[in-house]
Amino acid sequence: MIVSTKKLFEHAYGKYAVGAYNINNAEQIMGLFQGNMDSKAPFIVQLSKGARGYTDSRLLESMIRAADEIFPDAVFAVHLDHGDEQTCYDCIDSGFYSSVMIDASAEDFDENIAITKRVVDRAHAKGIAVEAELGKLGGVEEHVSVDEADAKLTDPKEVEEFVTRSGCDSLACAIGTSHGAYKFTGGQGLHFSVIEDIAKLLPSFPMVMHGSSSVPQDEVERINAAGGTLKGAKGVDEGQITKASTMGVTKVNIDTDGRLVWCRVHREHFINKPEDFDLRPAGKVFMAEYAKYIAHKNEVLGSAGQLDSVREFLNQ
Ligand code: G3H
Ligand code: 13P
Ligand code: ZN
Repeated sequence: MIVSTKKLFEHAYGKYAVGAYNINNAEQIMGLFQGNMDSKAPFIVQLSKGARGYTDSRLLESMIRAADEIFPDAVFAVHLDHGDEQTCYDCIDSGFYSSVMIDASAEDFDENIAITKRVVDRAHAKGIAVEAELGKLGGVEEHVSVDEADAKLTDPKEVEEFVTRSGCDSLACAIGTSHGAYKFTGGQGLHFSVIEDIAKLLPSFPMVMHGSSSVPQDEVERINAAGGTLKGAKGVDEGQITKASTMGVTKVNIDTDGRLVWCRVHREHFINKPEDFDLRPAGKVFMAEYAKYIAHKNEVLGSAGQLDSVREFLNQ
């Protein structure tokens, strides 16, 4: 059942975080739904602009509709990840999305607000929620390239004005993470004081953590043992994710970890079976392994086991 992102946040805020997982193909969709069913968790399926253009957005959307039928107990929202203004409008007009993210974080404060407000006005007219971004994550985002050196944490003092003027429903905050597999070079981690300050200023307002992959070291080792060269890949500590999930971080975005599972399964499969050229055996293993990963991650987020409670909440 496709539900409102806003309602999922209302149920989760301060207790747990909803996993927002990026998908690109049928195998990811099947693994994602299976993993959420196995762990009895509500979740968010998110599509980036790149994912929408990889095959065809209509194909992805049809597969999500089909998954909704294949897994009738699933409770999930559909979200556009890192949208530009036009892609937000396309998704709003399509009527399929529960929420969109407008990423105008490369613009200055006032321009970011102006763009976000235009998207909010169009989205809210159709009952669709809007995520915006304030501050700059390190690494490379969809259409925003930010030099690591310029990475800038969200300033809690700016958040209240940004949210009031733009009308956004949730906010991606820069709290020390970056996209991709190389987040930290040493023992860095989340900036909990930023999360704390924002939660104090705007109680109940959902914060979104991008760049939340943990980059499991056993995945990295297995990928490298099977011919990969991911040297120095490092992600967010799972204990820190659990802590943030009870402090107002209500949506946790994960893409890279899913890619690592895909890479490990396929590298190992074809290195162990060099005579093989069939896509389905490895695809089957990937779906099962990705489902296992999702179920584990939902335990970390605290969303595991929330399905009955969220359904009750939605039916009130
Ligand atoms: O934040 C970006 C997401 O990981 C999506 O990545 O733009 O390569 O689909 P993508
Ligand atoms: P990761 O690269 O850490 O998986 O982050 C994904 C993300 O933030 C998608 O918006
Ligand atoms: Zn992101």
